[in-house]
Amino acid sequence: MNQILTLRRPDDMHLHLRDGAMLEAILPESARHFARAIIMPNLIPPVVTAAQAAAYRDRILAALPDGMQFTPLMTLYLTEATDPADVAAAHAAGLVKAVKLYPAGATTNSQSGVRDFDKVRGVLERMAGIGLPLCVHGEVTDPSVDIFDREAVFIDKVLDPVRRTTPGLRVVMEHITTEEGVAYASAGGENIAATITTHHLIINRNHILAGGIRPHYYCLPVAKREKHRLALRKAATSGNPRFFLGTDSAPHPDHLKEHACGCAGCFTATNTLSILAQVFEDESALDQLEAFTALNGAAFYRLPANERRLTLTKGDAVTYPSKIPTGAGAVTVFDPGFPLLWKVTD
Ligand code: DOR
Ligand code: ZN
Repeated sequence: MNQILTLRRPDDMHLHLRDGAMLEAILPESARHFARAIIMPNLIPPVVTAAQAAAYRDRILAALPDGMQFTPLMTLYLTEATDPADVAAAHAAGLVKAVKLYPAGATTNSQSGVRDFDKVRGVLERMAGIGLPLCVHGEVTDPSVDIFDREAVFIDKVLDPVRRTTPGLRVVMEHITTEEGVAYASAGGENIAATITTHHLIINRNHILAGGIRPHYYCLPVAKREKHRLALRKAATSGNPRFFLGTDSAPHPDHLKEHACGCAGCFTATNTLSILAQVFEDESALDQLEAFTALNGAAFYRLPANERRLTLTKGDAVTYPSKIPTGAGAVTVFDPGFPLLWKVTD
């Protein structure tokens, strides 16, 4: 008999939808399965003001195919010129659910991000006052710090000091990749949480580099050694409310991934739920899949859990496209390296 799992419809608490032809082609890949998503603001130019967030939300809704229900939860890109009053008004209007901090130079389209934290102190204090979460890309940008150490150093040198000087600031550590990240989020109390991506539960750094360089496994923060992947799997499947899904599904056209200086990002929207069901089954934790994908994130963002349900059925290997064609070029779908048996059937 087929095994069937019925869960609350999941939320993706960290998603890149891009814009224009790319948005149009990839939005259905998320909207097919997810009820809501926290939408990253690192467009070119970035989504900095409330007016820009409202316009981007409207473009997303206009690109949504008829019959699909999907709610984009908008974010603002924090710059050193961000106006605390604009942020507070966007929050009060229900338009914006978080502000995203990119240390300048840390990742894709982060050049407008923050260099001097003193310049954003006023915004962070205002956010702490109104309970608006700060989503943090947690990597230092100092070129002298090894890329595999940048998350752990960020926690000590930037995140912890910022939290100490801004009491009450609610923080989501985005896409954690290390046991240090797991430990910090676990110990940090009710004002901190962490998203974990699908791909960081599957790959370690060998998948990217051993036996040839595999650009479709390259993302930032880069996957670390195996012990860190195991710590992430333990955290994700634990049921601990501090941890929830943020796929960081980040499409780039193949010609920019398979390049002498390839872009960072794994595109997992298409098969994320099939992969996660397998991970949770392998960890004997299928009973925690709903907490990770649909309950913990909603609770942290103070949103009601979704009432719609999603059904996964275990059967013969699932087929899914290996590439999504887009007007901006084909996008390769993340290959977990094992057959997927859990299919979203409703
Ligand atoms: O791998 C990544 N891709 N990490 C990020 O932080 C940004 C993202 C993107 O926008 O492509
Ligand atoms: Zn991201």
